[in-house]
Amino acid sequence: MSFLSRTLPRTLAVASIAMLAALWAGCAGDYPQSTFSPVTELGVRINELFASLFWWTMLVLVIVFVLLVYILIRFRSRPGVEPKKFYGNNLAEIGWTLGPAMIVVILLVPTVRTIFYTYEEPPEDALVVEAVGHQWWWEFRYPQLGIITANEMHLPVGRPVDIRLSSADVIHNWWVPRLGGKRYNYPVAARPQGAPEPKNYERISFTVNEPGQYSGQCAEFCGESHALMRMMVVAESPEEFDAWVQGMKAPANAVPAAGTLEEQGYNAFLRVGCTACHAVAGTPAMGRLGPDLTGIGSRWKIGAGLLPNTAEHLAKWIRNSAEVKPGSKMLAFPNITDEDMTAIIAYLQSLR
Ligand code: CUA
Repeated sequence: MSFLSRTLPRTLAVASIAMLAALWAGCAGDYPQSTFSPVTELGVRINELFASLFWWTMLVLVIVFVLLVYILIRFRSRPGVEPKKFYGNNLAEIGWTLGPAMIVVILLVPTVRTIFYTYEEPPEDALVVEAVGHQWWWEFRYPQLGIITANEMHLPVGRPVDIRLSSADVIHNWWVPRLGGKRYNYPVAARPQGAPEPKNYERISFTVNEPGQYSGQCAEFCGESHALMRMMVVAESPEEFDAWVQGMKAPANAVPAAGTLEEQGYNAFLRVGCTACHAVAGTPAMGRLGPDLTGIGSRWKIGAGLLPNTAEHLAKWIRNSAEVKPGSKMLAFPNITDEDMTAIIAYLQSLR
């Protein structure tokens, strides 16, 4: 026995065990962005299509391999046996042309059906949310409710929603895996040729069935901080959603009481220039270039899902956001005094 024939089986066995272990490791843990646990009918349909195509292709794979193994054994070379030689076989040729064509047709039917389902128009009374992609954050507008927020979208469970996707700059892509499917955010000027007027948005529609926090992210390369363009969908009961909407419409602490640290922060917020880009409902701050800060105190993260919303991170972000998020378009404010910074952060945290 040669060295190779002695060591090869053992090497193969060890390699297979290592690969199985690696595969297994993929099944453990918590995957907040798994498409395999959808919470919308849209996600369920896409998942079912995937599963059914997967198992049909597995069936094809098994048939091909069984035939292959049979042929390898049945027609192996044997001393003194000459294989029969012939050229051309109409039956075989028709078979291996029609067979795969039939398989393609079989796979096409459920695929096309699902594609049409994903483009079904939402009902008239659906909750409309305009999701506008920006480099590198998400703006969420609720035109029926008159509120605007950023990066964390609240939705009521059980009500159909009509998400209208567009972009303020380059192409982005909406993707919250557990809600099902991705879809492009096109800049209005870069609509695909022949897109129907006056609809200048893409659309994705679904009903969330289960309360929870569903994370997502931009799925189209859109520049330096594309990988840091995250979002969160907060699906809650209709009562909780209504309470959130009320808070967003008339934020309790938008203009803080006189003599408080928050009031000092509010004045500094107006003075240092934040309002050129940011808005807070109920105040003179109406900037639209950056994320709307109404209710910022109740968000989990800042910088589009980048950092936990703490005083320390807020200070870092305001001083120079590009340090933590490459290419960030927010102006740096290295010269705000520590006193003003403490007050501004107290103000921002009180906005909930
Ligand atoms: Cu926006 Cu990638």
